[in-house]
Amino acid sequence: MPALVLLGAQWGDEGKGKATDLLGGSVDYVVRYQGGNNAGHTVVVGDQKYALHLLPSGILSPGCTPVIGNGVVVDPAVLLSELSGLDERGVDTSKLLISGNAHLITPYHTTLDKVSERFLGKRKIGTTGRGIGPAYADKINRVGIRVQDLFDESILRQKVEAALDHKNQVLAKLYNRRAIAVDQVVEELLGYADPLSGYVADTTLLLNNAIDQGQVVLFEGGQGTLLDVDHGTYPFVTSSNPTAGGACTGTGVGPTKINRVIGILKAYTTRVGAGPFPTELLDEDGEKLRTIGGERGVTTGRDRRCGWFDAVIARYATRVNGLTDFFLTKLDVLTGWERIPVCVAYEIDGKRVEELPYSQTDFHHAKPIYETLPGWSEDITQAKTFDELPKNAQKYVQALEEMSGAPISAIGVGPGRDETIQINSFL
Ligand code: GDP
Ligand code: IMO
Ligand code: MG
Repeated sequence: MPALVLLGAQWGDEGKGKATDLLGGSVDYVVRYQGGNNAGHTVVVGDQKYALHLLPSGILSPGCTPVIGNGVVVDPAVLLSELSGLDERGVDTSKLLISGNAHLITPYHTTLDKVSERFLGKRKIGTTGRGIGPAYADKINRVGIRVQDLFDESILRQKVEAALDHKNQVLAKLYNRRAIAVDQVVEELLGYADPLSGYVADTTLLLNNAIDQGQVVLFEGGQGTLLDVDHGTYPFVTSSNPTAGGACTGTGVGPTKINRVIGILKAYTTRVGAGPFPTELLDEDGEKLRTIGGERGVTTGRDRRCGWFDAVIARYATRVNGLTDFFLTKLDVLTGWERIPVCVAYEIDGKRVEELPYSQTDFHHAKPIYETLPGWSEDITQAKTFDELPKNAQKYVQALEEMSGAPISAIGVGPGRDETIQINSFL
């Protein structure tokens, strides 16, 4: 089983960090393939809690090599501070590898992210303000700066000039902001060359060789399927492809080399930022899910919007990612509800719809059709096997599996590594 993808099946924050960390001990490489420090992955190891943003969650497993692939956007200041934060806590970060082709997030990207959101007013996306969209826009516009540019001052200067020529006009004339000086940006970026030089590598060559030699490579997605710029709830999405195909373009490993695609699926649904969310709860149940589930953003500290499980979305994630397995997380959070509604289909303009509509207008009109399942009150955090779960918790999992279109191969019953019921092995 040399290569597997682990990704978010909903709107992010499904528990990808925990799932990746759990597998980290048995894989050779953990590779981030898209996104940047908009991600917030919480990993709990014993009594230690880590919040990772840009670094792959595999960095906490000593035998594993963490890789930042070409599809990621890298804020070098954030990267260095995350590395030093882990160094201070005694985590060995020396094995990290970064693709020279990954694009950089510069201070002007972060500025543009914030001012363009403000400009959108009530139409804003609710981005994380980390410069993600502007950095990817520059990549596609072919005016981006890549990690490798840090090591050639003349190329770096030319590229910063080309980028700022246009941006300074926009900043000054449209947003009424001060222009940004080329020298200042070049100087700051050059300062990152030395501290980062030891990490930069031809990660595509290395990962393909590793897979050919039978080593195990895990691709760790950021965000989630419904935040995908192509397959998500556009325009309320991030600017990259968290879906499975992104693992190929974001690392240079071909699809024929990937054998397994695991969707991380929360036992209910959450979303941060703006955009449609059919099962959102604006009542006491929503508040209860937020409190019990600790649903507060790791990156921005914003409260997460909460709602019941949505099987239409889960089926969609199975389809667009070709999922082979699900890892169902946070089942323990649902303990204590007498009855648990699950959205099985939508009603759109009076018609029952089983699949996610491609039309934004239809999705905005979608009303959830619920089936209600019986709950359980027993503490499940100590359960180690499926049989140890209360009967109604078993039935809940089985019902979700039937509706979602792929086997549930693991169940999270708490944030810790050990608080997991493994049903089928992932490796
Ligand atoms: P990610 O962005 O997908 O990595 O998810 P986040 O880290 O943003 O949010 C998931 C939160 O749920 C984190 O605080 C995890 O520690 C926690 N978590 C993960 N799995 C479980 C679980 O099975 N049960 C409980 N109670 N918490 C979990
Ligand atoms: P992890 O990896 C949840 C959301 C933002 C906003 C939209 C666009 O922890 O699951 P961006 O800054 O990417 O341009 O914002 O995407 N978003 C996330 N929501 N989890 C994340 O990451 C997210 N990363 C971005 O809230 O709605
Ligand atoms: Mg998160």
